[in-house]
Amino acid sequence: MTLSGKKILIGITGGIAAYKTCELIRKLIKLNADVKAVITPTARKFVTETTLRTLTRNPVYCEQFDVPEWKPEHISLADSADLFLIVPASANTIGKIANGICDNLLTSLVMAFNKPVILAPAMNCNMWKNSFIQENIIKLEKAGFHIIPPESGELACGYEGTGRLSDIDKILEKVLKIFNEGNFLKGKNIIITAGGTKEPIDPVRYIGNRSSGKMGLALADAAYSFGADVTLISTVKVDKPYKVINLSTAIEMLEVVKNEFSDADALIMAAAVADFRVNKASDHKIKKADCSQKLKVGGGEPSIEMPFNASNQEGKEENLALELVKNPDILKEISVIKRDNQVLVGFCAESQNLIENAKKKIESKNLDFIIANDISNKEIGFNSDYNAVTIINKSMNEVKIDKTLKKELAKIILKEIFK
Ligand code: PMT
Repeated sequence: MTLSGKKILIGITGGIAAYKTCELIRKLIKLNADVKAVITPTARKFVTETTLRTLTRNPVYCEQFDVPEWKPEHISLADSADLFLIVPASANTIGKIANGICDNLLTSLVMAFNKPVILAPAMNCNMWKNSFIQENIIKLEKAGFHIIPPESGELACGYEGTGRLSDIDKILEKVLKIFNEGNFLKGKNIIITAGGTKEPIDPVRYIGNRSSGKMGLALADAAYSFGADVTLISTVKVDKPYKVINLSTAIEMLEVVKNEFSDADALIMAAAVADFRVNKASDHKIKKADCSQKLKVGGGEPSIEMPFNASNQEGKEENLALELVKNPDILKEISVIKRDNQVLVGFCAESQNLIENAKKKIESKNLDFIIANDISNKEIGFNSDYNAVTIINKSMNEVKIDKTLKKELAKIILKEIFK
């Protein structure tokens, strides 16, 4: 394995484990990586710039506005690297990053860095157990940072416990894994849908659902990080380095998916698409007074009534009937035009008989895979950072994945689909 052509920033914070980082740098250089060291002012107490300059064969960076280049150092360094490793990551630096503080070159650099960041914390075991530190670690994990947890054993401060820097070879393994995975979807054109559709009732109100878009966004981010050309079709407005098409309704989603699909290698429908829409939404805001006239939005016989049936002061009924009509089934329509070499993936959100219903959907929608998630469990699924799923393929083989961060789960799902 070689890291030839890979540009790695190695951040060192103030901690006794900083001496081990020198060994890590040596191993990275042996694999032909181009390594630049960025240190915090406190790290200077633990490792010298001469050591780091000699090992990296590059200048060492510490002060933020020290260099005569026109571009601020934290921006030019961030632009120049493929990966940022922070080894050791002190409790102080972890806290700053988790809270968006940029008070030195290293922390500013992290904020400006939009490629993978690995943090290998090292500290006293009581500090590591501290709830503030743990909350910060969870926050960083949710934000997509790669955390290599500390190991337990004898600590430099004299304590025994969890806190000592992970084995250097484990950190190196993670670096190699990130670069290996980096390109496995290169050349693939993948469409991902995210969020819940919004079906208008009038210019103010809509029928929606609890989907936050997190699952679809995690898949799009993961596919992009694996080198795919990503088109995200989303009901949630987001700013991403890949193509994003924003829309609201199921009809709009069908139109856009159809347009994009002919050039795609895969369509992954994580969006929660409304099965029904209001037949002819009102052009004007519906007034409360309209309800006493038993207004029906849409016309025809009402199929669903609002669940209240109160009377106003004059004893008149205050009902509003909405006529709902069936939306097109996007996956079903796409399955008709799908070529053999295109992959169609659906999600299945069910609160009972999950696997049975998922298997029915894989057949009725002619899918290659269905990802079944149980939406009766409040800790996962809708609007949670976590999900637990069963991936089912056409031959009805099942792969079960327990509760995992959606960001991580997205990677597992993509690897399973494209393996
Ligand atoms: O967005 P989050 O808050 O992160 O939540 C994630 C999620 C729970 C929304 C997601 O994981 C999920 O399960 N998405 C699919 C929800 C859904 O609509 O499931 P369904 O069983 O009703 O539909 C099955 C499949 O058909 C889905 O892929 C859906 O996108 C698709 N569909 C549904 C209706 C329709 N008219 N056309 C479709 O193509």
